[in-house]
Formats: sequence, structure tokens, C-alpha cells
Amino acid sequence: MAMQFTNESLSSLTADWLVLGLAESAPLSASITELDQTLGGLLSRLIESEDFTGKAGTTTTLLGITEIKTPRILLVGLGTAESISLASLEKAMTTAARSISSKPDTSIVVALPELEKSSLSTEQFATVISASMIVGAVGQDLYRKEAARFPFQQITIAGSGEAAECQQAVDRGTILGESINLAREMVNRHAGDIFPISFADRVVEVAKSTGLEAEILDENQLKQEKMGSMLGVAQGSDQPARLAILKYQGADPSAPTLALVGKGVTFDSGGLSLKPSDGMKTMKCDMGGAAAVLGAMNAIAQLKLPVNVIGYMGLVENMVNGSSYKLGDVLTARNGKTIEVLNTDAEGRLVLADVLSFAVDRGASNIIDLATLTGACVVALGEEVTGVFANQADWSKAVQDAAKASGEDVWEMPMFPQFADQLKSDVADLKNVGTRWGGAITAAKFLENFVSETPWVHLDIAGPAFASANAPHREGGGTGCMVKTLVQVAAQYGSTK
Ligand code: BES
Ligand code: MN
Ligand code: ZN
Repeated sequence: MAMQFTNESLSSLTADWLVLGLAESAPLSASITELDQTLGGLLSRLIESEDFTGKAGTTTTLLGITEIKTPRILLVGLGTAESISLASLEKAMTTAARSISSKPDTSIVVALPELEKSSLSTEQFATVISASMIVGAVGQDLYRKEAARFPFQQITIAGSGEAAECQQAVDRGTILGESINLAREMVNRHAGDIFPISFADRVVEVAKSTGLEAEILDENQLKQEKMGSMLGVAQGSDQPARLAILKYQGADPSAPTLALVGKGVTFDSGGLSLKPSDGMKTMKCDMGGAAAVLGAMNAIAQLKLPVNVIGYMGLVENMVNGSSYKLGDVLTARNGKTIEVLNTDAEGRLVLADVLSFAVDRGASNIIDLATLTGACVVALGEEVTGVFANQADWSKAVQDAAKASGEDVWEMPMFPQFADQLKSDVADLKNVGTRWGGAITAAKFLENFVSETPWVHLDIAGPAFASANAPHREGGGTGCMVKTLVQVAAQYGSTK
């Protein structure tokens, strides 16, 4: 797929579709006014008659256009110029992409909005639009005989901005969009396709294509590394565990290292604390944290950010067999702490415990972990908001700022010491579950035991990682959530450290 920026006028460009994002009750920009004149005033008549209002998320299709070289026009409402945010723009543009991507080999021209009253820069428009065209045109067709959606064959972004800068913004959007789609694909592949070994194979492929350094630890190496907590979970599966590591060195070796740690439970049956059918249906998504790490590393490498980042993906399947870990088992984690297992479905924290200590031991300066960790977080924050949990306020703020700058919604939860009381065990240093109350927080308090003093943020993405149904702006299934935020954290990390 080729994505290009051009300064050429909208009426001179050839493609199957012209996509025009128009704001509500805003004057038409110079380039749209020129186009309107070429179209004999069609656009201004539609606006005048309120057949098209520019309300956010609305679309109007115009077919059989003969005056210009794009026979179809899609008008996309952006809302008022003042109200446009990264998130609302993305919603409008993915809605647009979804509505015109049902045929193969489609070429499109997208006009860059020129809105004086918008707080977004031309480059921000270019990046979001490019990424959205790539994300919105890919559906859940991996296993269908006939696809319902097709990536665009050619995308041209047209506007009057400074060409080199806009092309750079478009390239950045392309990389982000493709990296989000990589994370989505990993989540959307069923657990027969993506299990620890095949996930690790994919990690190695990404390393080859991006120049990242990959390291895969197999079950024997994990044993040598004393990862008894993670291996406890893996015990009940015929699929052996893996720890996949991707290293990116974009700065001096003496510069600080950002560690990204992902929960990679390729299927979560619950283990002996078996999930009911309904709760298990979507549990191929339980590697969404590891998928976000993979997507982010892919983007960070391609963007050549001036920063050192290591991605750690803890890969296991939580299953039931004759060797399954059992309730009452006491596991010894890599850092020596012992854990009484009282629910085998609280497996994510057991995996992360060892991977977090490993990241600390390998010299992480700052850590972010991502995990589809608790249903309780979805109860607390809903399906679209990521829970933030941290042991250090500055680092938490840095991550939240990056989420804001990426248009992803996050909300910080308290980490009061008394929540840790729920994790006291009669027989071990910790137990792996607390009570029903504050379950997302007790999970985070559990993890805190494994990061030493390293500034650490835990992102619970149990809600946003997987969408249960299609929406106009988004295909159901894996969402690729937090890829953009992680890339933004890395970009900021490079500029401040
Ligand atoms: N993978 C689940 C959490 C989850 C739930 C992710 C819904 C996505 C959607 C996790 O391993 C789990 O089972 N958590 C338990 C913890 C409990 C046993 C303390 C839960 O949330 O019920
Ligand atoms: Mn579970
Ligand atoms: Zn899980």
C-alpha cells in the first residue's frame, strides 16, 4: 500500500473516492471552495439545505460525479472545528474508511481539513487520517473465504501544508496504523493459531523485518531463570511457555532503558478455576498486552526514535490437564517471593510477576506493563477506558500525558497500602487473589511486589483490548489499544531523558 502527500488541487487528482472531512458550521476552506465551484456549487447547496451538516461521525455519499477525476465523494462530518479532538477525528475517519473499503483495489484521495479554529495542527490531521485509513480498512476477515473489507490500494492525502513535514506526518501515521493492525491481527487470530511458540515466531519475524534484536527464552531457560510463578501457569498446557524479548537501541547504551512488559496469555480457560463458557469465549484476547508491546516495538523501530526500549512478552496458555497447577499450590517467583495460588484464573499476575522482575534485573529504568488483567477493571471503568496504576507519580503523569496526546482514554486508580492487606497469605508471602472488592487494585498491588523501586505503571486493558461488537467507527475484535500511547511515551522519553 502506498501513501502519499500532495499539494495538488483536489479536482486534479484521480482515484475511486474523494474523502472530504467538513466541520460543522465552519466556512469552506479555499481548496474546498475551489472544488465546490468546479462541482457547480453542489457542496454549498448540500450544506445550505442541511442535507449535510458536518455533525461528528455522519457521512454522506455522492456518486456519479463527472466534473472531477474522483467519481465518488464521501463527505465526513467532523463536528465543530473547536470540538475536534484526536479521538473524535479518528472516529470520523475510521468511520469513513469502513464505509468505502468493501471492494478490493480501491484508491482514495483524502483532503486534509484546513480549519482555523481547530486546536489540531495540520501534521496531527495528517497522522491521524493516515493511521485511520489503514486501521479502518481492515476487518476481521482472517478466517473468511470471502473478505468483507479490503485495505486501500493507494491513499493520497491532499492539502496545502508544507510538503516535507506533511509527508513525514503521513509516514508516521502509516507506521502507527500498520502497527495497530499488527496488534489487532495477533489478538484476532484464534488460540489454535497463536500460542506461545507461534507468537514467539512472529516476534522473530518482526525483528527481522525491522532490525530489532530478538531473544526467545524457552521453558528450560525460564526454569534456569527461576520463573516459577510463570511456569506454574504454563504447567497445565501442552504448549510450552516462552518469554519473547525485543531490543531496540536508538540511543547511547548509557541512556536510560524503557521496558514494556506484556501479558501474553494466548488463551485463558481459567485453569482448574475454570471459566464458564460465556466468560471464556473471547479469551484468545488475553495476549492483548503482549500484542500491544509487539505493535509498539514495531513502530518504535520503524520511526527510529532516539531512545532505548526493550519489550518483554510473557507467553503462556492457561489450560487444564493432569499437570495443571492447583489451588493451594505455593509457587516461588523469580525474586524469591512465594505465592499461594487460591484461584488459577488469576494467572496474569503470576506471569507478569516473573517477567517484571526479569525486566528489573535486566536494567529497566522505567517500566510500563500492559495486561488484560481483571474483569474488575471493566466493571470500574467500562469497556473503553484503560486503568492506570502506578508506584510513582511523575512516571504515571508521563504515561497519562502520552495517552492524552494519543487520543486514548485512561484513568488512574488509587494504590493505597491497605489494598495489599487482602493479599496476605497464611502459608506464603502472598496469595494470588483478594476479595471481590477493588479487584483491579489488588491485582496491581500484587504486581507492585515485583518491580522493586523502579518507576512503574501498570495498564489494565481488559476492557479496551477487545471490542465485543462492530460499531460504525470500529470493527469488533482486537483494537490495538495503547500502541499509539506506548509509541508516544517512547517519543517523549527520548526527548526528556
Ligand atoms: N484474563 C482475565 C481478565 C479479563 C476479563 C480480561 C474479561 C478480559 C475480559 C483474567 O485472567 C482473569 O480471569 N481475572 C479474574 C481475576 C479473579 C480470579 C481474581 C477476573 O477478573 O475474574
Ligand atoms: Mn484468568
Ligand atoms: Zn487472563
